[in-house]
Amino acid sequence: MHMAGLQQRRAQFIIIAALLYSLYILSVVVKPKRLATKQFTLPDLDRHTVFQLPPYLRSLEDAGINPAEALALHDKNAVAGQKSGQSRRAKTDVKLVSMSLRSSRYPQDAYTNFLWRCRTGEPPAAEVFETFISLKHRIFEVRVESERYPRTYNPSIIALPPSSHYPFLIVARVRGGGFFQESLICEGKYIDEPFVNPWGFEVMNRIVGCATNPRVLMVPQTPARDCTGIDFMSDVPGYHDPRIFWSNTGAPMMMFNQQSRYGCFGLWIIDLRSIYPSLRYRVTRGLLNQYPTVMELTRKEGRNPIEKNYVMFFDAETGAGYVQYELGHGSRHFARLAGNGLTTSNMTSPFEITCINDDAIWHQATNAIKIVLCDYGECEPEPENTVYLAFLHRKEIPEEFKVQYKRYVAIWKATAPFEMIGFASKHIRFDNEDEWEQKFNVEGRFLYTVSIAWEKNMNRYEGYLNENVIISLGVGDHDNAAVVMPVRDLMTCMRSCRHY
Ligand SMILES: *[C@@H]1O[C@H](CO)[C@@H](O)[C@H](O)[C@H]1NC(C)=O
Repeated sequence: MHMAGLQQRRAQFIIIAALLYSLYILSVVVKPKRLATKQFTLPDLDRHTVFQLPPYLRSLEDAGINPAEALALHDKNAVAGQKSGQSRRAKTDVKLVSMSLRSSRYPQDAYTNFLWRCRTGEPPAAEVFETFISLKHRIFEVRVESERYPRTYNPSIIALPPSSHYPFLIVARVRGGGFFQESLICEGKYIDEPFVNPWGFEVMNRIVGCATNPRVLMVPQTPARDCTGIDFMSDVPGYHDPRIFWSNTGAPMMMFNQQSRYGCFGLWIIDLRSIYPSLRYRVTRGLLNQYPTVMELTRKEGRNPIEKNYVMFFDAETGAGYVQYELGHGSRHFARLAGNGLTTSNMTSPFEITCINDDAIWHQATNAIKIVLCDYGECEPEPENTVYLAFLHRKEIPEEFKVQYKRYVAIWKATAPFEMIGFASKHIRFDNEDEWEQKFNVEGRFLYTVSIAWEKNMNRYEGYLNENVIISLGVGDHDNAAVVMPVRDLMTCMRSCRHY
C-alpha cells in the first residue's frame, strides 16, 4: 500500500519533469516572435524627413519650365542638403511627374459655372446686399451644459453613423473654468421647445441639445518647448479650439490646440475613438486608426510661437492627406502629411496666383468638406466634379476692443496642389444673425464660424449639392448656435480664380 503510493508519486514526478523539459526544448526551438517595438524619436524639423518632388511641379512643366530648376529656385535649402544619389532620384521623379501630367484633372466648367451666379430666385435662397449676402436660413441654439459647466461656447458638430442612437456628436469649450482649458462632449439631437414669440403666440423652437450627459473630454497633455515672452501660457493646462471632422477614410478626428514640442502652442490631432471609446463600435469605415494618440502636426517653414487654424485636405485621386497652414493675400502654405503628424516642406508653387486680393487679416475658420458638384444620384464623384469648401474669417476691429469675424466661403480643387478655384465676392450672413449678435456684446459682436459637417451621416466622406450641412457657430465666446442648409445655398455669388 505504502510502496504503491510512493511509486505513483515517482511516476508523477517523472511525467512533470518530462513535460517541463519538453516545454523548455519547445521554447528554444520555436522562439516566440517579438512584437515589433519601434523606437519613436521626436522628429528634427531641420532635417528633411521626406524628400519628394512636389506635385505643384506638374503645372510648372505645363508652362515649359524645367521642374528641377524650379525646385532649385524655390527650395534652395532642400537642394543644398541633397546628396547626389538623391538628385538621381529626383530625375526619375521628373519622369513620373510628366507621366502624371497626362492624368491630372480639374473641376470642369460645366460643373462650376453655377458658382459664379447669385441664387436669388423666388423664394430667394440669398439676398444680395452691397457688402454681404444674406442667406435665408435661421440660426438656432445649440445647448451643451452640465451642472459644473453651465456655459460652453465654440461648438464643433459632426453627424454620427446611422447605427448611433442620436444624430450628432458635439464638442464645445467650457467657459469660466479658471486657469485651465476644458471641453465637453455629448451626443446631440433636435429638440422642439414651445416658445412664446414677441407677438404672444406659442410656437415651436427647434434647437440641438445634448441627449447624453455631457462629460469632460480628456486628452493627454504635452509640454511646451518654448513660450519665451508668454511664459504663463506654457503652464495653462488643457487643450483648446477643438474641431471635430471625418477623415476621407471615415475616421472621426479631432484637431486641437495644445502646448507644442516645437514652439509654445501647436496643432495636434487624435482619432476620437481613442478618447471617446463608444464610437469604436459604431464606426464601420475608418478601420485604420492612424492617430491612436495625440500627434503634433509639424510645420517646417514660418512656424509661429503660437500656431492656429490648420485645415486638412485629402487628395481625391491618391487619398493622401495634406495640411494647409495659412492663407492670405499673396501667400499660401501647405504640405503633405508623411505619417505620425510629420509633414513635408512647403508645397505651394511660387508661381501660384492668389485669389484673395485684399490685404486684411485672414484666418482659416472651419475644417474643409468635400462636395460633389451635382445632386445625389446625378453624377459619380470624379476629380472633375469634386471640390473642397471651407470658411475663412476676415478679422476686423472696427471699434476699440470690438472684434468682428466676417465669414467668407472658399472653394479649392480636390486634388493636390489644392488651388483655390473660387472665393466669395461678399461675406455671408444668416437670416437672423442680427438678433444673435445682440445677445452677447462683450469682447465684440460676432458669431464665430467653428466647423462645417454633413447634417446626415451617409457613411461616405463626400456629399452632394442637395444635401444639408450643419455649420457650428460660437456666439461671442459665450454661447453655441448652428445653422442648417443645403450646401448649394452657400455656393453662390462667388468670384472665379481662373488660374487653373
Ligand atoms: C510657401 O510657398 C509660397 C510660394 O512660394 C510662398 O508664397 C509662401 O510664403 C511660402 N510659405 C512659407 C511659410 O514658407
